Amino acid sequence: MKIPLDELPTPALLIDLAKLERNLADMAGLAAAAGVALRPHFKASKCVEVARRQLGHGATGFTCATMGEVEALLEAGIEDLVWAHQPVGPAKVRFAVRTGVTVSLDSVAAAEPLAAAARAAGVRQPYLLEVDTGMGRAGVAPADAVRTAAQLERLGGLSLRGVLTHEGHLMTYLGDPGGREKAGRRVGETMAGVAADLRAAGHDCAVVSVGSTPGAASAPFVPGVTEARPGTYVFYDGNQVALGTAEESRCALTVLTRVVSVPRGEDLAIVDAGLKAMSSDASVRGSGFGAVLGVPGVAFGKANEEHGYLTGAGGLRVGSLVSVLPNHGCGVVNMWSGAYVVEDGFAVERWPITGRH
Ligand SMILES: Cc1ncc(COP(=O)(O)O)c(C=O)c1O
Repeated sequence: MKIPLDELPTPALLIDLAKLERNLADMAGLAAAAGVALRPHFKASKCVEVARRQLGHGATGFTCATMGEVEALLEAGIEDLVWAHQPVGPAKVRFAVRTGVTVSLDSVAAAEPLAAAARAAGVRQPYLLEVDTGMGRAGVAPADAVRTAAQLERLGGLSLRGVLTHEGHLMTYLGDPGGREKAGRRVGETMAGVAADLRAAGHDCAVVSVGSTPGAASAPFVPGVTEARPGTYVFYDGNQVALGTAEESRCALTVLTRVVSVPRGEDLAIVDAGLKAMSSDASVRGSGFGAVLGVPGVAFGKANEEHGYLTGAGGLRVGSLVSVLPNHGCGVVNMWSGAYVVEDGFAVERWPITGRH
C-alpha cells in the first residue's frame, strides 16, 4: 500500500510511524533507567501491531482493562497479561479462571465468587491487590492493604502476586511539572511502603506496579517499585500536551477529516469527523473535540455523530483536508476498526484495532 493522504477516504485515523517508534523507544529507555519492567496498557492502542513493536522494545507483557483486550492479546499469542479490573459477574469470573490471567482485587465482595470458582476448578487465581494512591477510583486505602490481603487469603483459591495502583490523579497537575513529579514520587513511596507492610505480615509481594503516562518519569524511579504500566505514551494526545508531558510534535495519532460544507460564509466549516470519529472525551484544558492542527484560531467546539463544526475557520473550503489531534487518544481508538500507518507522507498499511466494545 502507498496511498497519498489526499486519496484516503475520510474521516481516517492515522498513526505516524516515526513518532510512534520514537515514543516506544523513549518509554522503554525510561523504564530501563528506572530499573523496572515495562508492562504497557493495551487500551491506548488496542492494536496488536503496536503491541508487537512494544515487545520489540523490551516490554515484558501488557496491562488490559477489558475482557476484549485480554482476548485480543491471547489470540495474538501474547500471554503475560495483567487484567487491571475486578472480574465481577459470572462471565468475567469464568473468563478469569479459564485464562488464568492475573486480575486486580480490592475487596472480599469482588473476590468471593472468583475465589469459589478457582477453588472449584482446583486452581489458584493470581491477583494484584489494587491500592488507591490518590485517584479516588477502585483500590484499598494503603492502611487497609494488610487487612484486605489477609481476608482474601482466608477465602482460598487466590494467590497474591503483589500490589498495583493507577496514579490517574497526576492528570490534575496542569502546568505544574514540579507538583506532578512530587506526587508521582509519593505514589511510588506509598506503594513500596504497602509492599513492605505486606511482606512483614507474611504475604508474598514480588510485584510493585505503578502505572500512568504522567507518572512514568517519577513513580517507577522510587526504590522498591518493580513495574511501570504507562499506556497513553504510545501516541500521546491533546490532554498530554495540555498537561505538559509531551510536545505536540510527539503526538502520533490524528484524525484526518475533510470539509464537506461551508454553509454560511467563512466562519463555519463542517467536516466529516463527528462524535463517532473523535469520541466525546473532554479536553482537560476546556471544551472541544480536539485541536485542529496547522490552522490557527480554529475551534472544534461541537459535533454530531458524523459532522464536526469548526468555527473561526477562515480559509477552509469545501474539500480542504484538516488534521485533528484528539483530546484523549485512548477513547478515540475504541471508535475505529483500523488505523492507517503513515510514513513519509503516504499511508503504507492499515492496522486493525481489536478488543473494542
Ligand atoms: C489500571 C491502569 N493502569 C495504567 C494506565 C495507563 O495510564 P495512562 O493512560 O496515563 O498511560 C491506566 C489508564 O487508564 C489504568 O487505568
